[in-house]
Amino acid sequence: MKTVQDYIRTIPDFPHEGIMFRDVTTLFSDPRGFRIAIDQLLHPYAGQPIDKVIGLEARGFILGGAIAHQLGKGFVPIRKKGKLPGKTIEQAYTLEYGEAIVEIHDDALQPGEKILLVDDLLATGGTAEAGIKLIERMGAEVVGCAFVIDLPDLGGRKRLEGLGMDVHALCSFEGE
Ligand code: PRP
Ligand code: MG
Repeated sequence: MKTVQDYIRTIPDFPHEGIMFRDVTTLFSDPRGFRIAIDQLLHPYAGQPIDKVIGLEARGFILGGAIAHQLGKGFVPIRKKGKLPGKTIEQAYTLEYGEAIVEIHDDALQPGEKILLVDDLLATGGTAEAGIKLIERMGAEVVGCAFVIDLPDLGGRKRLEGLGMDVHALCSFEGE
């Protein structure tokens, strides 16, 4: 029986030479692959009180939407700067080259709400940490961070665990 990892395609040298791009489109396009990924992502949280699911742009939207539907909860997007139409709060984070900014609508969460944060991949953890900061700045609480892929050599899991986060990943690729 194929595992979640078996459905992920690796494309060498994308977006630039030396990078092994882990492509989840082949996981998402397979009906069984997508279903087991969603089931496994939400499994640890099924009995826990969760008020909202937050997905990080862009692939976190696909996963987060399906998880929110399954849990019977609402979905909230965290987007790259300039995409959300309403009033936002923003958070800068560091990329390999330079800085980026993510945003959330300033009325999307209520203080005390319990949040499940979802994305496709955990690398350095910079994107997820920016999301966590936005959620916490709104007075809400991150009860779990769920990813399809962990790249442990890039340190994201340690970084998030250092912030006191519960990190759940379905598979990992080492040596990169
Ligand atoms: C990728 C991936 C994660 C993030 C992980 O997104 O989908 O969101 O990088 O990297 P980090 O742990 O080092 O922050 P990317 O920024 O390429 O944007 P996209 O999802 O919009 O394509
Ligand atoms: Mg992303």
